[in-house]
Amino acid sequence: MSLLEPANKYRLQSLGADITSRYPSGERPLARPPAGSGLKPVMGNYGFPVIGHIFSSLADPLDFSRRRYEQFGPVSWAGGVGFRVVSLMGPDALETAWINKDKIFSSERGWAPVIGPFFHRGIMLLDFDEHRDHRRIMQQSFTRSALDGYLELMRPSIDRTLSSWSTTLGFPFYPSIKHLLLEQAAEVFVGTTLGPESEQLSADFHDVVRGGQAMVRADVPGGLWAKGLRARRRLERYFYNQIPARTRGSGNDLFSMLCRSEDDDGARFSHADVVNHMIFLLMAAHDTTAIALSMLTYELGRNRQWQDALREEATGRPNDVPRLLELEDYPLLDAAFKEILRMYAPAGTLFRQTLRDTEILGHFVPRKTQVAISVYASMRLPDWWPNPDTFDPGRFIDSPESRTAVSRYVFAPFGGGAHKCIGQQFADMTVKATMHKMLRQFEWTVPDDFRLQLTWGTGPTPADDLPINLRRR
Ligand code: HEM
Repeated sequence: MSLLEPANKYRLQSLGADITSRYPSGERPLARPPAGSGLKPVMGNYGFPVIGHIFSSLADPLDFSRRRYEQFGPVSWAGGVGFRVVSLMGPDALETAWINKDKIFSSERGWAPVIGPFFHRGIMLLDFDEHRDHRRIMQQSFTRSALDGYLELMRPSIDRTLSSWSTTLGFPFYPSIKHLLLEQAAEVFVGTTLGPESEQLSADFHDVVRGGQAMVRADVPGGLWAKGLRARRRLERYFYNQIPARTRGSGNDLFSMLCRSEDDDGARFSHADVVNHMIFLLMAAHDTTAIALSMLTYELGRNRQWQDALREEATGRPNDVPRLLELEDYPLLDAAFKEILRMYAPAGTLFRQTLRDTEILGHFVPRKTQVAISVYASMRLPDWWPNPDTFDPGRFIDSPESRTAVSRYVFAPFGGGAHKCIGQQFADMTVKATMHKMLRQFEWTVPDDFRLQLTWGTGPTPADDLPINLRRR
C-alpha cells in the first residue's frame, strides 16, 4: 500500500454508523484505513462535546493516560477543543515518531499550536534540513569546553543562594529553586550581572513562559497571553541590541557563545536566529530543570536512606567544587536523578503533526494528525517498570539486570531522534552541581502532613511551594 495517497480520500468526515457500529460503545475509529492496507484504525473517543478530554487529561494526566493505554493500547486518539490528538505510549510507539524515518512527523507543526507565538523559530520548531543546519551551529555552544565555562559561571549563584538558606520548618523549596535558576539564567545564559537589568529580564522571561502556557489563548487585554507577547517583544529588543558587542567579545555565557558559534563550514546564525534561539533556550532549560531539582529534593526528603547514601557519596569527595569530569562520577546521585526523570518526566508530552498518511505500529494515521508523544506516562507503565510509582534509584545502578531493563526508548526523558535534548549534559551538570552542595550543607525531610499536588507545565509540576523541613548541617 502506498501511504502517499491523499489522506482526505480516506478520512471520515462524519463517523457514520456503518463503521462505528462494529465497535463497543464509546469507541470510535479516528479514520478508516485504506482498503487492502491491512492497517487497523486508531481507536479512541472525543470525550465531552467541544472540550473533549481536556479537563480530565489535565486533572490527572497519569491516570488518564494509563486508563487509555489499558483500553486502547499504545496508539489511541482523544478529543480536545475542536481537534483530535493521537497519543503514543510505550517505547515502540515513541521510537516510530522520534526516528521519523520517512520525515512524516513535523515538530514545527506539532508544537506551533501549543507554544508557537512565544517560541516561533526556536530550534525545536524547525524541521528536517533547516533544523539539521541550525543544530550543527548550536552544537558548538554545547561542547565540553563550553559546558566547563557554564559550570564556572553557575557556581556563584549556587553558593550565594545556598548560603542565604537557613534552618527552617516548611521552607518553600519550589519558589526558592526557581529563583536560583532565574539568577542562573541571567548570569549563565545571558551573561549579565545581577541588578535591575537582570530583574527585568527574569520578569520578562517568566511572563513569556506563562503566556505560552495560558489557558485563554487570545490577546485579551491584561491576560497572560497579551502580557507574554509584550514581554517577548522586550526580550527581542534586548537581545538584538546586544548582539554586535557579544559577537566581538569573548564572553563564556551561552548568549555570547551562540553569537560566535559556527559550524564546520563556517556558517553562523543570523541575528534573528540568535534572538529566537535564546528565547527558546531559556524556556527549554528553566521549567524542566526546576521540576527535576524540586522532585529530587522531594523524593530524597521522603526517602531518608537514599538521602543519607547520596550525602555519604557527596561528602566522600574531597572537592567542594567538582569539575565537569568529576561530576560524571557520582553513581548514586546519577541513579537518583535518572529515577526522578523517569517518574516526573519534566518534558512530559511532546508534539508532532503528520505531513502525510502514515502508519504507527500497524495503525493508520492520516495526514495532518496532531500527535502527542507521552513521555511521562510511558515511563510509568508497569509493562516496563515494576512498581512504576515507587522511587527506587536502585533500578539504575549498574548491573546486568538494569542494563537489560533499561533499553533505549524505555527510558527516554530527553526524547530521541533529531530533536533529542541538546541541553541534556547542561541539565545533568546543573542538577548535580546544585545537589552536591545541598547534600553537603543541609539535611531535609518532607513535613508529615504534606501531600504532593502536581499541576501541568512542561510536565508534572509542583502545584504549591513544596515545603521541606530544612536543617543546616
Ligand atoms: C531535566 C531537564 C531537561 C529535560 C528533561 C529536557 C527534555 C527535553 C526533551 C524531551 C526534548 C525533546 C523535545 C521534542 O522532541 O519535541 C528537549 C529538547 C530540547 N531541549 Fe531539553 N530538557 C531539559 C533541559 C534542557 C536544558 C538545560 C537545555 C538548554 C540549556 C535544553 C535545551 C533543549 C533544546 C534546545 C531542545 C530542542 C532540540 C532540538 O529541537 O533540536 N533542555 N528537551
